[in-house]
Amino acid sequence: MEQYIIRGGTRLYGEVEISGAKNAAVAIIPAALLVQGVCRIENIPQISDTDTLLTILAELGAKVSYVSKSTIEIDCTHASYQDAPYDLMRKIRASYYLIGSMLGRFGSAKTTMPGGCNFGVRPIDQHIKGMRALGAEVDVRGGFVYAEARDGRLHGARIYLDKVSVGATMNIMIAAVLAEGRTVIENAAREPHIVDLANFLNSMGADVRGAGTDTIKINGVESLHGGSYSIIPDQIEAGTYMVAAAATGGEVLITNIIPKHLEGISAKLRETGTSVEEYVEGILVKGPSELRRINLKTMPYPGFPTDMQPQFGVLTCLAKGTSVITEGIYDNRFKYVNELRKMGAEIQVDGRVAVFEGGRRLTGALVHACDLRAGAAMVIAGMAASGETQIEDVNYIERGYERFVEKLNALGADIRVRYDEEDMRQGRLLSSF
Ligand code: UD1
Repeated sequence: MEQYIIRGGTRLYGEVEISGAKNAAVAIIPAALLVQGVCRIENIPQISDTDTLLTILAELGAKVSYVSKSTIEIDCTHASYQDAPYDLMRKIRASYYLIGSMLGRFGSAKTTMPGGCNFGVRPIDQHIKGMRALGAEVDVRGGFVYAEARDGRLHGARIYLDKVSVGATMNIMIAAVLAEGRTVIENAAREPHIVDLANFLNSMGADVRGAGTDTIKINGVESLHGGSYSIIPDQIEAGTYMVAAAATGGEVLITNIIPKHLEGISAKLRETGTSVEEYVEGILVKGPSELRRINLKTMPYPGFPTDMQPQFGVLTCLAKGTSVITEGIYDNRFKYVNELRKMGAEIQVDGRVAVFEGGRRLTGALVHACDLRAGAAMVIAGMAASGETQIEDVNYIERGYERFVEKLNALGADIRVRYDEEDMRQGRLLSSF
């Protein structure tokens, strides 16, 4: 397995440019299946999750080409219903968007149950409830989801989500744009990537209103046409570099961001004594000489994002005093604390609450990336620690961070990648287009 070897104790200085938002891209790529014509999509992050989805679309008959490193053209005009590569679907969470896009385009879908990071049970009952309300028969058996529009096309419906779910909100939006009539999603999630998906769909001819509020209205249209769209910058990637700057006592200008999307993260960082200043070209983060303790609770947007929880966990290990983090979204998102304990952290976990006894010096150790964001957190811990940290299973990190090691090293980090020989022999999946 590929590993990162980090020599800790260096402060990060300089400027880093943020890539396109992963969680927007992984919905927009499957949504391109609805479009008859060429979708030109800019600011696509080059990460393995987007690469996997592009490979799946290509298998369904889409023409996919890179215009530049971050701009692609997808033409699904001649895509047809067929078995998709299930081994690829199983790898990623966002494959659930193929249920909505295949149903919308073909009136049928067969996908695997989604993969992705394991934070405990991650059901898709709200997705299924939405598809059923739109007139699909949905059956889950043998690890697959089978869905079929009862009369070949979906029909608009009023859908109340029992849980605020990012994935269910976006999946229902995707399925509903070509449905007959009007769909209303109530208790919808409001994350920036939901607005981004709506903007993408509207720029291709859809009629989606209210994205960013808890009620989204979709008036079905007969077809979508090609067009150009640029994906928003990644809120979580930006937040990760902000925490990395704070944790190492460095000074980093983070560019290509939307400051509004970072408000919750900036507010919490300021509470730790970190300076966060907004400029036209980006946000400047300066770590303090001593970090202060904080309490935080993760919540749906505009609350504090769960995807920043592990990175802040590292920060609270370094901060003076006792910090309490409450996970408001997932049942089991504190697995990474075991890895931090190997580095000298003192953390007690009781269900969804973790108590961090801060002010400890972290020391390098052999640790494991439990999932995407936990992996990024371990990289931050390794940079802040003394000595050498080896991180295993870093393929998780590469699912969501474009050129992570390269960007961090350009800021002064000391990270080497030890490649897996088998991967090298077979050629890596990333950038197969
Ligand atoms: C998405 C993001 C993930 C982020 C999460 C919350 C993608 C690909 N992933 O995941 O990075 O951590 O939003 O911001 O965009 N739930 C149900 N039934 C459902 C759906 C969800 O009970 O049908 C529950 C989940 O178990 C969880 C909560 O609702 O407790 C929120 O999940 P959701 O917002 O759907 O997260 P994902 O779409 O899986």
